[in-house]
Amino acid sequence: MPSKPSPLILTPPPAPSTAPPARTTSVFSGDRTVEARPFELPEALVPNTRLQMDGVAFLSLLPGDCIPVAFFDPQYRGVLDKLGYGNEGKTRGQRRSALRQMTEGTIRTFLSGLDRVLIPSGHVFLWVDKFHLCQGVRDWLEGTKLEIVDLVTWDKGTFGMGYRTRRRAEYCLVLQKRPRRAKGVWKIHTLADVVREPAAGKRGHPHAKPVDLQGELMAAVSHEGDVVIDPAAGSFSVLDAAISRARTFLGCDLEG
Ligand SMILES: C[S@@+](CC[C@H](N)C(=O)[O-])C[C@H]1O[C@@H](n2cnc3c(N)ncnc32)[C@H](O)[C@@H]1O
Repeated sequence: MPSKPSPLILTPPPAPSTAPPARTTSVFSGDRTVEARPFELPEALVPNTRLQMDGVAFLSLLPGDCIPVAFFDPQYRGVLDKLGYGNEGKTRGQRRSALRQMTEGTIRTFLSGLDRVLIPSGHVFLWVDKFHLCQGVRDWLEGTKLEIVDLVTWDKGTFGMGYRTRRRAEYCLVLQKRPRRAKGVWKIHTLADVVREPAAGKRGHPHAKPVDLQGELMAAVSHEGDVVIDPAAGSFSVLDAAISRARTFLGCDLEG
């Protein structure tokens, strides 16, 4: 009988020195004293690939308190439903409405799964549109240890839809699992809260997010070799960002 392959253990790279970490003296230092613990990777989860599976099932396979950083870009219908842009029959609108939509309940289930797998003081970067930004997403976070700690505006530089003003920005809410802290956790202090990066039209997905910005965000809150997850990855922009920043990606999409 063939022997069972030994499980893959994801281990962060060795620390550069065995000396105890230097004390973080300022919130603006580049230190990160938070470490993710190594964990045994379930066989179904292959790192740095485009897994085709349900994101809630994906999250349930991960152990608790092991992931330093996650991205979540829910497939909601907020703007389309509430403002009734009604372009579902046309090109990009057609592709958008063909994607599997998430109910509010599903979004809450995703966030509660993300809350479970994150390390203490770990981050979720949650993409929202202006409708959700104005209405608030606090309901989604109820019962979790996630708190909103910052906001980054992505300026795509191109015009989108809008009966009044035309949309050209999307928003990335920065959520942190308690305990909430920046000192010794967030290590890049040159990132502005409005970032211009052209929309990645060539990725073939109507909601593709900016690879460089996501790379910078993950670099701010993780070490090289750390695991970055995205349970609804669409065009897998976070996979490309993770590879460019020497992080390990784990993620999936229902459409693969
Ligand atoms: C807004 S898009 C993500 C776009 C992605 N951030 C990017 O940069 O390309 C949301 C994705 O969620 C996927 N999706 C919907 N329900 C899902 C589920 N239950 N599990 C996994 N993926 C799901 C859709 O197929 C869609 O591709």
